[in-house]
Amino acid sequence: MKALIAAGGHATRLRPITYTLNKHLIPLANRPMIEYAIEKIVDCGIREIAINVNPGEVEIQRVVGNGDRWGVEITYLEQQGGPKGIAHTVANAASWINGESFVFYLGDNIILAPIKSLVERFERDHLDCLLALSHVDDPQRFGVPEIKDGRIVRVLEKPEHPPSDFAVTGIYFYGPKMLEAVTKIQPSARGEYEISDAHTWMIEQGCAVGYEEITGWWKDTGKPNDLIIGNNFILDLIAEPSIAPSAQIAQDVRIEGVVTVGERVTIDEGSVLQGPVCIADGCHISGSQIGPHVSIGANAVIRRATVSETILMDDVVIEGGPKITKSIFGRSARAVASEQRGSCTFIIGDRAQIEW
Ligand code: G1P
Repeated sequence: MKALIAAGGHATRLRPITYTLNKHLIPLANRPMIEYAIEKIVDCGIREIAINVNPGEVEIQRVVGNGDRWGVEITYLEQQGGPKGIAHTVANAASWINGESFVFYLGDNIILAPIKSLVERFERDHLDCLLALSHVDDPQRFGVPEIKDGRIVRVLEKPEHPPSDFAVTGIYFYGPKMLEAVTKIQPSARGEYEISDAHTWMIEQGCAVGYEEITGWWKDTGKPNDLIIGNNFILDLIAEPSIAPSAQIAQDVRIEGVVTVGERVTIDEGSVLQGPVCIADGCHISGSQIGPHVSIGANAVIRRATVSETILMDDVVIEGGPKITKSIFGRSARAVASEQRGSCTFIIGDRAQIEW
């Protein structure tokens, strides 16, 4: 089997972060999100992976590389004509897929469980398509299957009146018939080639379309709060605390729960780290309460601050101010409390959000 990962698109719901950073490179627990997808694929023994990128993309290639790190071969496919929907991503990869079976993985989906058992089910039952389903509170946001007598009879994309409370997750298993399906559908009202329409086409053609319910959590990280929840989930998975040898942590710093601290980090007196917390290399923290569920990118400086459930990327500076929670700070973002009480100074880029 091969694997195709979707890492293109505009990610408008994650602006302003995605003005300057591809969504699939947003760090969760300090690692680019797409690496979690790659590892799920590698763990089930797949060795040939293609990543669909927007035309002109260079950053993903630079960060992810050619697959040597995982002992696999990674190829990059530019989506001709730019993002035109998820089904178009598959059509765009048709010659690379070359008639083989493949896993199609949306690179912004993160899941707890391994996918090996799904691959086994797909192969054992000689399916044309296997959909991984997950119960959700808001099926209107997803592809939703209509299930009758234990079979999917059609899949509706973002239905106003969902026929079930299942979402079709962005982890799909296909035989070669899918390459035909994506050529048979028309763009939807929002102008995209919808993956759900390709699924419905296959069902109508009498293809063997099965489903499995995913065990454990699954998250499509489409909106800012999903990133926070995803970051929380991944931080919870870090089982072992670790403190790099070159880190300097003052005697009275209180550390609770699972905390990982990178090289050359300094944590001065009076700080509290409430795990799970993940601190990358070169950070400086003093007089602050960090955690739970905080990931801090490299070379961040945090002084006299309280931070929980937050993603801080590289080179962030936070000094003083009220408690920060459920927040995302892009690279080199600064939040420094004013010396002058009762006044605030902002330099805020397009679509930035402040809530207080
Ligand atoms: C896409 C698919 C949808 C699926 C979802 C899973 O939606 O169109 O069918 O349920 O991914 O992540 P999007 O995230 O592009 O809105």
